[in-house]
Amino acid sequence: MNDFTFHNPAMVVFGRGKEEMTGALVKQHGGKKVLLHYGGGSIKRIGLYARVVESLRREGIEFVELGGVQPNPRLSLVREGVALCKQDGVDFILAVGGGSVIDSAKAIAAATLTTKKDIWEYYMNDPNGVSQALPIGVVLTIPAAGSETSDSSVITNEDGAFKRSIGGSCLIPRFAVLNPELTFSLPPYQTACGASDILAHLFERYFTQVRNVDLTDRLLEASMKTILLHTPIALREPENYNARSEIMWVGTLAHNNLLNTGRTGDWASHEIEHELSGIYDIAHGAGLAIVFPAWMRYVYRKSPHKFVQLAVRVFDVDLAFEDEGAIVREMIERLERWYRLLGLPVRLSEAGIPEDRIGEMSGKALVGRQSIGAYQTLGVPDVEAILRLAL
Ligand code: NZQ
Ligand code: ZN
Repeated sequence: MNDFTFHNPAMVVFGRGKEEMTGALVKQHGGKKVLLHYGGGSIKRIGLYARVVESLRREGIEFVELGGVQPNPRLSLVREGVALCKQDGVDFILAVGGGSVIDSAKAIAAATLTTKKDIWEYYMNDPNGVSQALPIGVVLTIPAAGSETSDSSVITNEDGAFKRSIGGSCLIPRFAVLNPELTFSLPPYQTACGASDILAHLFERYFTQVRNVDLTDRLLEASMKTILLHTPIALREPENYNARSEIMWVGTLAHNNLLNTGRTGDWASHEIEHELSGIYDIAHGAGLAIVFPAWMRYVYRKSPHKFVQLAVRVFDVDLAFEDEGAIVREMIERLERWYRLLGLPVRLSEAGIPEDRIGEMSGKALVGRQSIGAYQTLGVPDVEAILRLAL
């Protein structure tokens, strides 16, 4: 196990009706003038907007608002948010929505206090360079990205369709309200995309070359089992509180960095996927359902040990298969069947993505870096081969 420091100060408030506490939580964390940030309108349709506004008013907290965050959040709206924060003296950003809203809120929070260089410079060239941000609070409406307690933000610059991330402890939200009932209204496809992203966050951490990480291996395996079991239940019964609760909590634990203590994750599949959603504007979780099986097929031969362990412990593949390769291939097929059961694409063609920009995406995935991935490091030809396997 590697040495590590684990520090995640985000307060998690979990349960039915907990959004009623939003105003009190903002106050507790020092917010006096809030930017209320949200997406395309789902929070108004489910009555959440009204409840959050009422709780802010109850606590006498002033707010300005900026809706309209799109999935794969855009840099241009971040710039609008920064202008609003500066003009109105905002001291706290409240994100009500999913990963896109939260990531946009984080970008605004950082950019409002960053004077040394333009915020996009950090996303493009200095992803760990952001050291200060306005405090952020979250009311989560979709378990997926894990951004509610993560230290990262992913933004798309429309100019060049670059999708890039920054990371830093100042971006960890001060609190996250998790009410599983708020996810009852999710369309089945969004539930599925969210589950795929959660599973991917567990895979990325699981595939490590660091040895003797048995505790985190087993915590990751338990988390994977939970998401594999409960997602089909939530799809069949959208208002099943227990299934929604399991998914929501595992979504947070999958990405708050507890599960990568003492180990180094891979993350190549995420980098490759960001090219797909950056250019084709598909849902991140759908892109991961396409990339992960292809990445697995490409990578397992060099280091099959972790794949075999995963196959046996999580996908219940029988060790009686003739060799390690057969065990791993069986696991990948089971994984693809699960994605299909959820209604997700597992090939580029199924998402309507043609092959003509594979070369461009492979090159862009490596812009500004020597390689991606850690379980196996990948260069441009490897990324191209993986995307071709996904055709
Ligand atoms: O915009 P609204 O109207 O709110 O609709 C949203 C959106 O269309 C809808 N939705 C959310 N909650 C709902 C709901 N519809 C009905 N009922 C509800 N309760 O769902 C759609 C997708 O929302 P979005 O926020 O885009 O989803 P997600 O949470 O999957 O976030 C995706 C973004 O997060 C990034 C992804 O790359 C992508 O840009 N990620 C961020 C990470 C991080 N910051 O740590 C890590 C992840 O790996 C990921 O890259
Ligand atoms: Zn992800």
